[in-house]
Amino acid sequence: MNEPTPEPTSAHEPALIPVRQVGASLSSALPEGRLTPGDEPDPALYEGSFYAQVGGRETFAKLAEKFYESVGADAEFRAMYPETDLRPATMRLQLFLEQYWGGPSTYSERRGHPRLRMRHAPYTINSHNRDVWLRHMRTAVDSLELPPLQEATLWDYFDRAAHSLMNAPD
Ligand code: HEM
Repeated sequence: MNEPTPEPTSAHEPALIPVRQVGASLSSALPEGRLTPGDEPDPALYEGSFYAQVGGRETFAKLAEKFYESVGADAEFRAMYPETDLRPATMRLQLFLEQYWGGPSTYSERRGHPRLRMRHAPYTINSHNRDVWLRHMRTAVDSLELPPLQEATLWDYFDRAAHSLMNAPD
């Protein structure tokens, strides 16, 4: 067990345990790169959230897919990502963003507390890598063609989050 001790959380599942090892429900028994039709969130539950305003799950699925499509086409940057299959990473990003913006909390049900700084500790995030990440995210955000205010809200968040995750000097 090399994982650092997770922060205490109120989640009923232990943090950071891969979904295959916990719980007996159908969705928690699935590989984390997949969602089932039964996992479709009920839009009524998230009314009024930014998640709902920008188009719900479909929008965040497209955003994560476009981001990782762009990363996948950049051999140098792609080399930082540990897995040969980017689909599970795509799903983690999608679910994290859905949760962050007021949608379903599937991310934490599967992964525990986000603790993004800790999860990024294995990767060198200097200003170069931050800017490359942001460039790929820019492509993804542009693909959504959101109204200007929503786009600015999303972009401002990514810009601040990417700066806050820096963990290495240039
Ligand atoms: C600043 C430059 C960044 C770099 C170089 C970077 C790099 C990475 C890498 C290499 C991974 C591992 C891929 C995986 O297995 O999931 C990862 C995971 C992840 N990143 Fe980033 N990232 C950056 C910024 C961000 C930002 C700004 C966010 C959120 C707004 C974010 C959200 C995530 C999430 C949710 C995961 C999956 C965490 C998990 O559950 O394991 N990253 N990132």
